[in-house]
Amino acid sequence: MSVQGGAIADLRASVGLQIADEQLLRTLVRGLSDVETLLRETVRSDVKAVHDAASHLVEAGGKRFRPLFTLLSAQFGDKAKTDDHVIIAAAAVELVHLATLYHDDVMDEATMRRGAESVNARWDNTIAILTGDFLFAHASRLVADLGTDAARIIAETFGELVTGQMRETVGPIDGEDPVQHYLTVIAQKTGSLIATSGRFGGMMSGAPAEYIDALRRFGDLIGTAFQISDDVIDIASRSDELGKAQGTDLREGVRTLPMLYALADEKTDPRLVELLSGPISDDALVTEALELLRTSDGLERARVTLSDYARRARAELASLPASPARDACESVADYLVERTH
Ligand code: IPE
Ligand code: IPE
Ligand code: MG
Ligand code: MG
Repeated sequence: MSVQGGAIADLRASVGLQIADEQLLRTLVRGLSDVETLLRETVRSDVKAVHDAASHLVEAGGKRFRPLFTLLSAQFGDKAKTDDHVIIAAAAVELVHLATLYHDDVMDEATMRRGAESVNARWDNTIAILTGDFLFAHASRLVADLGTDAARIIAETFGELVTGQMRETVGPIDGEDPVQHYLTVIAQKTGSLIATSGRFGGMMSGAPAEYIDALRRFGDLIGTAFQISDDVIDIASRSDELGKAQGTDLREGVRTLPMLYALADEKTDPRLVELLSGPISDDALVTEALELLRTSDGLERARVTLSDYARRARAELASLPASPARDACESVADYLVERTH
C-alpha cells in the first residue's frame, strides 16, 4: 500500500475514519500526499541541526487527523476549488499542531512521541523549544499566502491554544470547579485547532458561511471529545498501543477527567485519592494508580461525558448536506467513543 493509502488505513485504525465512497477516498489520498510533500519541503533547512530536529517528528508520522479534517471540510465547498489553498491550510494546521507537541513534550517531560523518542529526550529541551518555534514560524509563513482573514484566525487559534496550556499548568483558580476547568482547558488546547482545521477547509473551498460555521462547531466539539478519549485511553490501554509513555499525566500531576471524577466520588478507594494528591515519580506507584483508576467509576463517568460530546458534535453535522464527507465525519464521532471500550 502507498504511504498515503497507509495514512488512510492509519486514520481508520486511530480515529475510526470510514469512507465507502471511492471518489472521496481517492481525493483524500491525493490530498494527503500533497500535504506530506509540502510538510517535508517546509521543514527543510540548510542548517543540519534545524533540519534533523524539525523533520524528526514529521517523519515519525502521527495520524494527520487535522489535515484530514481540513480536506474533508473542503468537500463542502465548490470541489473545483480543492486546490493549493486547501493543501496549504491543511499543512499549516499540522505544523501548528506539531510545534505544540514539541513544546508540550518539554512541559510534560515526555520521552516518547509518535512511537519515536521525543525531541527533548533525543536532543534536549532547548532544541525542542527552538524547533517548535521554527515550525510555528513556517506555519505562519504558509498561512500568509491564504489572506489576512486566515492569518488572523490562525493567530487567534494559537493564542487560545497557548492559553489552554497555560491554564492547565496553573490549575483551577480558587473556587473554580475542577471539571469545568478541565473541560474549558481541553476545548482551548485541543478543540480550538481542530475547529480551525474545519473552518479553513470550508473557507478555502468557498463553502457557504453556514457550513463553515457548522464545521467549526463540529471541530470544536469533536476536538474536545478527542482529548477526553485520549485521556481515557491513556489509562485504559497499554503503553505499546499508545505510541507514547503511559501515565505521563500522573507523573506530571495533571488531573485528567477520569481522575477528577474519581476524586469527586466519595466511594473511591482512599488509596487512589492519596496517590492522586500530587505528581507520582515512582514507576510502581504509577502502575498502582493506573490499576485503581481502571476499575474506578471515574473512568466510566469520563466515558459518559465523552459520549455526550460526541453526540453534540454529531448534531452539528445536521446543518451540512448529506454526503460521503459528512458520513466520514460522523464515523469519527462514533469511533472516539468506541475506541475507549
Ligand atoms: C496528540 O494529538 C495531542 C492530543 C490532542 C491528544 P494526536 O493524537 O492527534 O497526535 P498525532 O498527530 O497523531 O501524533
Ligand atoms: C497535547 O496535550 C498538546 C496540546 C493539545 C496542545 P497533552 O499533553 O494532553 O497530550 P499528549 O498526551 O502529550 O499527546
Ligand atoms: Mg503531553
Ligand atoms: Mg500536555
